[in-house]
Amino acid sequence: MVVNKAPMGWNTWNTFGPNINEKIIMEAADAMVEKGLLDAGYEYLVIDDCWSLKQRDPVTRRLVADPVKFPNGMKAVADYIHSKGLKFGMYSCAGVRTCGDYPGSFDHEFIDAETFAEFGIDFLKYDYCYRSSSTTGPILYHRMANALRATSRDIVFSACNWGKDDVYSWIRSTGAHLYRSTGDILDNFPRVKELATSQFDKQCYNTPGCYNDMDMLTVGMFGKGHAGTEGCTINDYKIQFGLWCMLGSPLILGCDIRNIDDESLKLIKNEHLIAINQDIEGRQTFQISSKSWSCHDAAIFVRKLENGDFALGMFNFADRAATVVAMFDEVGYPANCGLKFELTDCFTGEKSICDSDSLSLYIESRGTRIYRVKPVKR
Ligand code: GLA
Repeated sequence: MVVNKAPMGWNTWNTFGPNINEKIIMEAADAMVEKGLLDAGYEYLVIDDCWSLKQRDPVTRRLVADPVKFPNGMKAVADYIHSKGLKFGMYSCAGVRTCGDYPGSFDHEFIDAETFAEFGIDFLKYDYCYRSSSTTGPILYHRMANALRATSRDIVFSACNWGKDDVYSWIRSTGAHLYRSTGDILDNFPRVKELATSQFDKQCYNTPGCYNDMDMLTVGMFGKGHAGTEGCTINDYKIQFGLWCMLGSPLILGCDIRNIDDESLKLIKNEHLIAINQDIEGRQTFQISSKSWSCHDAAIFVRKLENGDFALGMFNFADRAATVVAMFDEVGYPANCGLKFELTDCFTGEKSICDSDSLSLYIESRGTRIYRVKPVKR
């Protein structure tokens, strides 16, 4: 199965942790449609850990949905999600137990894949806790990928081993469509920055069909919910969303979308940024240096886009404002190229022209500017 673009959706974990139930899922499905998230591209609704009973069915050895949390069973949940035009995702783990201490799929991969297919899932997140030492990580991901491929459904396989065991070197061979490259996100700026920067030198591994997943977004959480912690500001969320879009990470929302504020909603529906993330050419993002004495903690990324444009993302992570300078020569446009640059500001939609060999911007503390750039004849 080919997955042409980094998957987009919503997952229960960041906000609800273990406290999930049918009502929350149905309300989230309603919200995804009513708030225009499905139309913006967010199509997967994923139930994370803690959905099953603590033990398998003693006779069939199958996983069983917790009847208190899901009184009508998982098939009914799947049907509701599908009736909304959404796709349905669930969670299991390559280990003996899940990270939340529910039964994992170890040694039950094929029967679990069958169960998931019977539920009607379209996406499986597959975690890495309590891994048996009797075999290797690659074999465990091969097993579940093979089990999913043996079902009659198209199921996106979302590996989640937090970047361990040199996952970059083997995950693509297993059949996974996305792979978590980081530990768990928390809703605070230092943690978000830590996760993103850990992937700055890993962009060569993010390829069409198998995407580097930097974890679920915290945009809109403002410190509330399971992964809440100190919370972020809306400007921090602009950096976060901008980085995830520029670096081509899957966009899996984690806030309580039922009650999301207007500014966060506008941000996650930003068409310019989503278009960069979902660009069909799927080019590797590259980093250029920031030429500025005043800027000690900045990053500039470029991503070539399908129609000949490129995206230019300039990030100031520092605690003070700074001038950040991008040299077009480093993008492959020398001063003698005979071109100037039409810029569209992805946050405001404003257009401007840059007829120079560099773009120099004064960016506030923890701020970002992202442009879609069209090179045109001078
Ligand atoms: C791990 C994963 C998280 C989440 C939890 C659930 O920590 O990395 O994304 O799925 O398990 O227990």
